Amino acid sequence: MARIQFLLLAGLALSFATRQQLRVPLYSRHSPMPNAFIDGNLGRGLHLLLTNRENVEYYGQIAMGNPRQNFSVVFDTGSTNTWLPSANCPKDNQACQTHRRYNSSRSSTYSPNGRNFTLNYGSGKVKGYLSQDTVHFSGADMPGLIFGEVLIHQLIKSNTLIFDGLVGLGLGNLAWNNTTPFLKLLCNQNLVNECMFSVYLQRTEDEGVGGEIIFGGVDKSRFTGRLHYVPIAHANVWKLTISKAFAGTSLIDANMDALLDTGTSYILMPRQTYDNLLAIMPGESKGIEYILNCRRNALPHIQLIIGGKPFYLAPKDYLIEVELEFKIICITAFVPVNLDFWVLGDIFLRRYYTVFDATGKRIGLAESVLNAK
Ligand SMILES: *[C@@H]1O[C@H](CO)[C@@H](O)[C@H](O)[C@H]1NC(C)=O
Ligand SMILES: *[C@@H]1O[C@H](CO)[C@@H](O)[C@H](O)[C@H]1NC(C)=O
Ligand SMILES: *[C@@H]1O[C@H](CO)[C@@H](O)[C@H](O)[C@H]1NC(C)=O
Ligand SMILES: *[C@@H]1O[C@H](CO)[C@@H](O)[C@H](O)[C@H]1NC(C)=O
Repeated sequence: MARIQFLLLAGLALSFATRQQLRVPLYSRHSPMPNAFIDGNLGRGLHLLLTNRENVEYYGQIAMGNPRQNFSVVFDTGSTNTWLPSANCPKDNQACQTHRRYNSSRSSTYSPNGRNFTLNYGSGKVKGYLSQDTVHFSGADMPGLIFGEVLIHQLIKSNTLIFDGLVGLGLGNLAWNNTTPFLKLLCNQNLVNECMFSVYLQRTEDEGVGGEIIFGGVDKSRFTGRLHYVPIAHANVWKLTISKAFAGTSLIDANMDALLDTGTSYILMPRQTYDNLLAIMPGESKGIEYILNCRRNALPHIQLIIGGKPFYLAPKDYLIEVELEFKIICITAFVPVNLDFWVLGDIFLRRYYTVFDATGKRIGLAESVLNAK
């Protein structure tokens, strides 16, 4: 009897526990620049290539300190560090001055750290010093987050970026030693019962709610079919392996890793892969852009084989309309970079609902409901 009661209680506890989720709505806004928040400098080509492109930014709300100071942040699966602009940034750093700034002397939960840091991204760099405070989001309070207070803000087109800072949701090590990254801290403090999160991004025409991150859960109404899980390709990075990549029926790549990155707008790929792709794309090079006509039926579907299952990008997913000399032309969302892996950014994540499971060290993918029609 005691045993049955115990099991019953355990069962109740479990069903209660599995409901412990933190839902963070993501807002979307058109921005003149796409993001590329992956660690490291991708080379100058990317900066030039991406100017003028139509693009969507996804950001969520957090608050830091007590009383709370509000910020808009990118939740970035491609990096691990968290930073916010600092109230102490110099007056002549316009990028910093045009965003909300964290003022540690206005927070009773702040504690100093003082170490300096620099972070380099595909989109530029930020520099400053470290601080510690309590971060609040989706009704949860998470004390003890060590984050960067940014003094020097040198991201591309940073004055036009809507978000203030960035929350790194990577599994990896921080740029700074002996501190615990956001996701690990969240799990260590048992703020969610399962150490995982899922990402849903919408393709939106209007500004407004554009998706959701659920820490500790999955929303089954957002995808069709089953989640297809694959192990992560390396310890501590949200990368999986693409065993084969096809454009139409042509093989363009094989056995390549791909980073699943909410902080990057497009699909980045190694130069050789990009060349293989262009070889079968009907279009023409103009400077560093590759111009296609916008007739979708003439263009190939991209097929990525991941864990034995095909995942697709159709022309409607990867074509981007831009105006050039008063004419509408199309370019692709594929960008060649100096990397030996792919980066599957928002273009891919809008098509596929994605689960980032830190406990299982695996990534789950399923077709987003928006594509099922
Ligand atoms: C911060 O955000 C919360 C929730 O969105 C809001 O209620 C509050 O008024 C905001 N505070 C400030 C100072 O803007
Ligand atoms: C930070 O807050 C303190 C206390 O309110 C204030 O005196 C100080 O001027 C603020 N610093 C900046 C740079 O705004
Ligand atoms: C941090 O950087 C500031 C200048 O930005 C410098 O004055 C200070 O000495 C540096 N501190 C450490 C510990 O390196
Ligand atoms: C961590 O700190 C040690 C000693 O200060 C230093 O030698 C090492 O390079 C640091 N590692 C990283 C990743 O910053």
